[in-house]
Amino acid sequence: MRKYLIAGNWKMNKNAAETAALVDEIVAAVGNDTSVSAVVCPPFTSVATASDKAANSNVGVGAQNMYFEASGAYTGEISAEMLRHLHVDWVILGHSERRAIFGESDELINKKVKVALENSLQPILCVGETIEEREAGDTLKVVETQLTEGLRDVKDEDATSVVIAYEPVWAIGTGKTATPEMAQEVHAYIRKLLNALFGEEKGEQIRVLYGGSMKPENADELLAQKDIDGGLIGGASLKSSSFVALIDSAKKLA
Ligand code: PGA
Repeated sequence: MRKYLIAGNWKMNKNAAETAALVDEIVAAVGNDTSVSAVVCPPFTSVATASDKAANSNVGVGAQNMYFEASGAYTGEISAEMLRHLHVDWVILGHSERRAIFGESDELINKKVKVALENSLQPILCVGETIEEREAGDTLKVVETQLTEGLRDVKDEDATSVVIAYEPVWAIGTGKTATPEMAQEVHAYIRKLLNALFGEEKGEQIRVLYGGSMKPENADELLAQKDIDGGLIGGASLKSSSFVALIDSAKKLA
């Protein structure tokens, strides 16, 4: 019922020329297949190139951030409307690097989530605990706060446009992956919260991705978990061979 989504978070990597080459390879590999949603999220300076290269293909384009205001004196920021103008359909919001390095709060992230939805952008809302929070036994509490605050006042009719990414901070870029059981425990909890927020019919349709050192070697087991509906991929999304292998893993299970 939920279509797998494999999204590449390129972070601050790939200039426009590198983007053109990588998107060409991914588009060619995905071809006519629509059984899995494949999305690339390059840095802002490469979004237009990615959109051109992915036009009329089965590869979607996302951004890694945006601001909630429509326009004005916000030096260095980008609006939802500017992204829509470049045919962007997705936006990663509340990534742990935005939270930790750039001080983004749940309140700010919530404003962005609502403005993204108003502009027909599908937000990929990231949640996840640090190692200290996990060791203190606070994982579910942290995830619950980030999820409920991030989705505050999201309308029921928009619920199924939202995607959640559970990304344990200690697993991002570290090579340490949550075991499938650890991830499934949190994903099941997120599903329960989504069902409580939006009702079971909608909650069961919302995709919950895993992120944190997902790669071809561990993807089959993670994606086979009941409540894992895809991946938000950093390092392994920077090469077409590994990114396409992840799409293929999802395809086998679709
Ligand atoms: P990683 O990053 O796959 O390199 O761990 C995932 C992410 O930060 O979204």
